[in-house]
Amino acid sequence: MNVYDSERIIRLLKPEGFIRTDFPEKADLIILNTCAIREKAEQKAFSFLGRLSKLKKKNPELLVGVGGCVAQQEAEKALSRVPSIDFVFGTHAVPRIAEIINRVEVEGRRIVDVKMSDEINESGRGVDDTENSTVSRFVTIMRGCDNFCTYCVVPHVRGSEASRKPDSIVNEVKALVDAGVREVTLLGQNVNSYGTKEGLCSFPELLSRVNDVTGIGRVRFTTSHPKDMSDELIDSFQNLDKLCNHIHLPVQSGSDRVLKKMNRKYTRDQYLDKIMRLKKVCPDIAITSDFIVGFPGEMEDDFQETIKLIETVGYDGLFAFKYSDRPSAPARSFSGKVPEDIKKKRLKVLLELQESITAEKNKMLVGQTVQVLVEGFSKKQGNETLTDKLGKTQWSGRTVAHKIVNFYGSDENENLPEISIGQLVDVRIEKALAHSLWGICTHIDHDTRDEKGDKHYAA
Ligand code: 5AD
Ligand code: SF4
Repeated sequence: MNVYDSERIIRLLKPEGFIRTDFPEKADLIILNTCAIREKAEQKAFSFLGRLSKLKKKNPELLVGVGGCVAQQEAEKALSRVPSIDFVFGTHAVPRIAEIINRVEVEGRRIVDVKMSDEINESGRGVDDTENSTVSRFVTIMRGCDNFCTYCVVPHVRGSEASRKPDSIVNEVKALVDAGVREVTLLGQNVNSYGTKEGLCSFPELLSRVNDVTGIGRVRFTTSHPKDMSDELIDSFQNLDKLCNHIHLPVQSGSDRVLKKMNRKYTRDQYLDKIMRLKKVCPDIAITSDFIVGFPGEMEDDFQETIKLIETVGYDGLFAFKYSDRPSAPARSFSGKVPEDIKKKRLKVLLELQESITAEKNKMLVGQTVQVLVEGFSKKQGNETLTDKLGKTQWSGRTVAHKIVNFYGSDENENLPEISIGQLVDVRIEKALAHSLWGICTHIDHDTRDEKGDKHYAA
């Protein structure tokens, strides 16, 4: 969500004459888009702001702005702690960014805009060339969250759920595809409740409409709350040809006791039942998840339940975090806080287990041919492509399960045409490395042009 917001900020500032730079010391304006999900993220934001103060001393004309969830939650604290901040804008103020900067310049004073509203901005992020990836983009379909998991700051900083209209989402996807994008990820804190409040279409219906956009190669979505995952959504993995066989389904804990205290509203068995149904409908589905270790009151037995769950599901990958107290999240005042060294130990055990599962899964891919969306070159320095030890160029992309694959292209196989970014290609996996796969391209899809001469790709 933050990557998406940052892209939107860059796009909104382009007509104001701002050009993106990779060199902070050359900038006239620096905006820090912050994350408040865990304490560490917030600490990082403040230490970065401390470093910016030095730049501001060298260049007093430099404007410094802070946006995102920390800004929403801690606007006053940020202003008083960091004198070099010129403006603070909250999660709902992104569409007003140009106006805020103008006011700072004209009025010559510090500005705070953390107003929240019930309305959702329909314009989306739109299309332009300032973003990092030209082939894979996020499309936000809703914002906010009404779930109030007891550890989570999101409902407090991003507000209550609001969904965009299906037509404007589909139009944004069409515009992205026309601009060369091949993969979209529909984005929301809990996509399963898309449109419920507003009485729009269901999430699986929206997925189906996006699946039907001509020229789209792959469709993904994130994040899905297990409690709201319907059979209709599970069936989408069978029915929709562009929907990647991958689901990120955060479980957080394998213990019913902890799940209850977290207010997740499902049990371990209910979660496992949904996993089984997914695997039945789509046997090769890749499943990833989020875990929190050391939630208040988590005993060793609870943690062992989590470990057993990981073994049972056999995740393709996971994100795991040590619990941290967040302002306005109720778990902050729960008893039974787990000491830091135990949290650390549990995290290590969990990550080591997953590493061995991932290694095993990657090994099983050796010798198999997988579909890869070509995103660029594996080694780059600035805009220059580097060759490997053998003097060859390696391409890079992702599988349907979102695994990184580096591979040799046409120069290994004379029968293949030239590869280009944005193509869907077949790669035979030769080696499984710790965090990526390596292979050789065996087939490239064909691109077609429509009557206007615009390029579209056949999936
Ligand atoms: N402490 C640790 N991890 C957290 N997450 C959310 N809130 C907290 C917290 N207070 C994790 C959850 C969520 C992911 C985005 O961040 O696992 O799914
Ligand atoms: Fe936070 Fe729970 Fe909402 Fe996810 S579903 S954003 S964890 S409150």
